[in-house]
Amino acid sequence: QIFRKKAVELGVKLLPAFHTPSGIPWALLNMKSGIGSNWPWASGGSSILAEFGTLHLEFMHLSYLSGNPIFAEKVMNIRTVLNNLEKPQGLYPNYLNPSSGQWGQHHVSVGGLGDSFYEYLLKAWLMSDKTDLEAKKMYFDAIQAIETHLIRRSSGGLTYIAEWKGGLLEHKMGHLTCFAGGMFALGADGAPAGLAQHYLELGAEIARTCHESYNRTYVKLGPEAFRFDGGVEAIATRQNEKYYILRPEVVETYMYMWRLTHDPKYRKWAWEAVEALESYCKVNGGYSGLRDVYARHESYDDVQQSFFLAETLKYLYVLFSDDDLLPLEHWVFNTEAHLLPVLRTDKKAVEVKKK
Ligand SMILES: *[C@@H]1O[C@H](CO)[C@@H](O)[C@H](O)[C@H]1NC(C)=O
Repeated sequence: QIFRKKAVELGVKLLPAFHTPSGIPWALLNMKSGIGSNWPWASGGSSILAEFGTLHLEFMHLSYLSGNPIFAEKVMNIRTVLNNLEKPQGLYPNYLNPSSGQWGQHHVSVGGLGDSFYEYLLKAWLMSDKTDLEAKKMYFDAIQAIETHLIRRSSGGLTYIAEWKGGLLEHKMGHLTCFAGGMFALGADGAPAGLAQHYLELGAEIARTCHESYNRTYVKLGPEAFRFDGGVEAIATRQNEKYYILRPEVVETYMYMWRLTHDPKYRKWAWEAVEALESYCKVNGGYSGLRDVYARHESYDDVQQSFFLAETLKYLYVLFSDDDLLPLEHWVFNTEAHLLPVLRTDKKAVEVKKK
């Protein structure tokens, strides 16, 4: 009860962030004054797709917990705004101005700034016990456009997800983007007729590419971003993209692929990552990120990110447990790998709870 009460209190404290002309929330909120603002670097005062698009699961659950529909209304309005906007080539730009309600720069990414928006469309449908058909349609429309415009195959036969900048492709894939393998596989059995196997295979291809990005380093943990141009494949070419900060997305994808296919290679690949973490990241006080995954010398960054415990180790634990631990039919992992139950949190359920 204490945590339920605190969760709802926090939700209420966040509501002023939605006081914008469009209802698209600010990125930042002064908790004392209730005044919102956006990141100074974000295109023309825009809010960020992966931020305002990654509230849906938690806010729907808050309405369920509290019996107060306000939280659900706020996130359903975000969806309405997005549905009413024209999307370039069917794609969702990373930037949306909350004052004008119009897109900012036409940059599209399944990695940083975009990633968890797509994840939450799929998981909104799953968490609603597959009753939220609007989320399902938005998800499959979005990934179809992504496949057409962003997904490419290298000359060496590796499938990757590029970044889209105003119609031009940057042939770079971020470590963050590796989560999409698991996402494609998780959604596969809801795919439009005849596409289930296709999306499962697409998930497997992304998993294989991300494994290659790990396997082509010295420490067998992957870089922050890897490229497919200038004769390289799945390798970081810039010094400032060679770091590994204990990120979870690759083992996350292995976990979903394992659960959904039981192909033993996913446990093998995950164990390679476990051994690499033990060999190269373990230090006296815990685990450290690395500045250069290609270097033969130690390159600790001396930081243990909070997502290492919340996500990286949790996904590994689930991957090496039996399927009846946290079955995917009953639990949804939010974007930080915290668990939410699958429930019918539609209007009716909220009403019932209220009584
Ligand atoms: C991983 O790299 C090693 C060499 O470092 C190579 O022998 C092996 O075939 C690679 N595995 C895969 C699956 O590419």
